[in-house]
Amino acid sequence: MGFCFGSISKLTTCAIVVLFLLSSFGFTSTDAFDALDPNGNITIKWDLISWTPDGYVAVVTMFNFQQYRHIQTPGWSLGWTWAKKEVIWSMVGGQTTEQGDCSKFKGNIPHCCKKDPTVVDLLPGTPYNQQIANCCKGGVINSWVQDPSNAASSFQISVGGAGTTNKTVRVPKNFTLKAPGPGYTCGPAKVGKPTKFVTQDGRRVTQAMMTWNVTCTYSQFLAQKTPTCCVSLSSFYNNTIVPCPTCTCGCQNNNTQPGSCVDLSLTWFPLPSLSHSPNSPYLASVVSGANKNSYAPLVQCTNHMCPVRVHWHVKLNYKDYWRVKVTITNFNYRMNYTQWNLVVQHPNFDNLTQLFSFNYKPLTPYEAINDTAMLWGVKFYNDLLMQAGPLGNVQSELLFRKDTSTFTFEKGWAFPRRIYFNGDNCVMPPPDAYPYLPNTSPRQDISLLTLMLALLMSLVFYTYA
Ligand SMILES: *[C@@H]1O[C@H](CO)[C@@H](O)[C@H](O)[C@H]1NC(C)=O
Ligand SMILES: *[C@@H]1O[C@H](CO)[C@@H](O)[C@H](O)[C@H]1NC(C)=O
Ligand SMILES: *[C@@H]1O[C@H](CO)[C@@H](O)[C@H](O)[C@H]1NC(C)=O
Ligand SMILES: *[C@@H]1O[C@H](CO)[C@@H](O)[C@H](O)[C@H]1NC(C)=O
Ligand SMILES: *[C@@H]1O[C@H](CO)[C@@H](O)[C@H](O)[C@H]1NC(C)=O
Ligand SMILES: *[C@@H]1O[C@H](CO)[C@@H](O)[C@H](O)[C@H]1NC(C)=O
Ligand SMILES: *[C@@H]1O[C@H](CO)[C@@H](O)[C@H](O)[C@H]1NC(C)=O
Ligand SMILES: *[C@@H]1O[C@H](CO)[C@@H](O)[C@H](O)[C@H]1NC(C)=O
Ligand SMILES: *[C@@H]1O[C@H](CO)[C@@H](O)[C@H](O)[C@H]1NC(C)=O
Repeated sequence: MGFCFGSISKLTTCAIVVLFLLSSFGFTSTDAFDALDPNGNITIKWDLISWTPDGYVAVVTMFNFQQYRHIQTPGWSLGWTWAKKEVIWSMVGGQTTEQGDCSKFKGNIPHCCKKDPTVVDLLPGTPYNQQIANCCKGGVINSWVQDPSNAASSFQISVGGAGTTNKTVRVPKNFTLKAPGPGYTCGPAKVGKPTKFVTQDGRRVTQAMMTWNVTCTYSQFLAQKTPTCCVSLSSFYNNTIVPCPTCTCGCQNNNTQPGSCVDLSLTWFPLPSLSHSPNSPYLASVVSGANKNSYAPLVQCTNHMCPVRVHWHVKLNYKDYWRVKVTITNFNYRMNYTQWNLVVQHPNFDNLTQLFSFNYKPLTPYEAINDTAMLWGVKFYNDLLMQAGPLGNVQSELLFRKDTSTFTFEKGWAFPRRIYFNGDNCVMPPPDAYPYLPNTSPRQDISLLTLMLALLMSLVFYTYA
């Protein structure tokens, strides 16, 4: 963790923060296992659909079998190492990033002669004669739950110097999938049963000459060294707003890295003018300054320095129901999150009654337990979480039916157990900091007075984002 430099007086705080962060990730090393999506993977399938004089034509399809993790712009890139002296004669629906050294070819020049080609998707708007099904989406792949019809991406590749029988063809090695940064680890290609294709009318079945699969899994630890998201909490019954833990995603460091975050107090205009942020000279210069081409976030200066914060506000208490307001705020000036999603774990999700302005689907990785929900934006309404600024947030309210055998406002029960944003774990405040009921004593019935107070307080907090 490289974010705890600075004054010595901060050392203890930092040590505590680091320990806490480590414990909130809850797993070690590059373990790819995700308890909420235990089978999640991206499977890359190569179907050899015909032999050519010196090789084969294959359709390569990447299936995103992850419930909630998607690949957003600028999209995937897929690399591998050829086992022999293969070349790529041509491609449809994708291209290699470099041609490599094709100097020994005369006449027909291959598309790519590199030993370790890297393929990227073509952009939308590619001419039809260069497209195949599931291509040309700029490398964007949706998650399985959110949009299964867009959870695959394909390209076609014509390979030479490869051998022309299933005995002489060698599978490529060392697959790497970038999305676009690190995070995925791919296993070896495994030759399996040739895929069968059923024609549209269902009256004929054809099959591939040969098929192999590669499976890639994701690890948040490989993707980034620090968290990217944090959670803050509040409630109608206690006016404490529990902020994201300090230094969750990094610490503000004025001495060594001034300008490493956007300090709104230094902008030349009052906040509202930020709605056209490039008009603010300071902000514009910072946002378009150094590292412009990097995907590293440029965040607003906050105590947590996270690109994304999720706020969970326990808003109202009715006789049979209770209501929560969820707000997702983007602090990153370099990212519009398209097709964002949230995964939330709370025991009351088995009785979610109503949800406003988000889509919802229960996730039940362990059949019997229905406590996890996936939430995402409504298309063309709030499926885009805009870059930091006045438009950089989306919100929704959830209405839960109380199950009297479990429901309580005590001991932080009303707060989520776990939240992921776009598949990455959001760091929660430590449980002992959660807002608690005034005058908590076990099994206390809520008196009329408390209820009135609660109602008043909820009115006060109605305006809290
Ligand atoms: C990849 O995911 C699919 C769909 O969930 C599953 O059937 C398959 O077994 C997974 N593969 C591996 C190697 O985990
Ligand atoms: C190659 O093809 C033969 C006959 O079609 C089949 O029996 C054999 O299993 C195949 N081998 C591989 C490695 O796919
Ligand atoms: C596999 O790819 C990585 C990164 O491209 C490279 O560092 C490594 O040497 C490759 N391994 C083999 C066996 O080709
Ligand atoms: C490849 O994976 C897909 C999806 O998991 C599966 O349906 C297919 O049988 C696998 N094919 C091979 C050759 O392993
Ligand atoms: C950085 O500077 C800002 C404004 O000058 C100040 O409020 C903040 O406390 C400083 N942070 C640190 C870690 O020194
Ligand atoms: C986000 O979208 C807005 C509106 O489409 C655009 O003006 C802005 O440049 C985008 N920001 C980034 C970081 O892509
Ligand atoms: C989980 O709970 C939700 C909300 O009550 C319900 O709509 C859904 O059918 C449940 N799913 C399962 C698998 O029990
Ligand atoms: C909550 O959901 C569970 C499982 O779906 C159901 O058995 C129970 O009756 C529900 N409770 C209420 C109060 O609706
Ligand atoms: C609200 O919760 C905080 C803990 O986050 C606690 O310190 C405070 O005493 C609570 N307020 C009341 C009125 O109980």
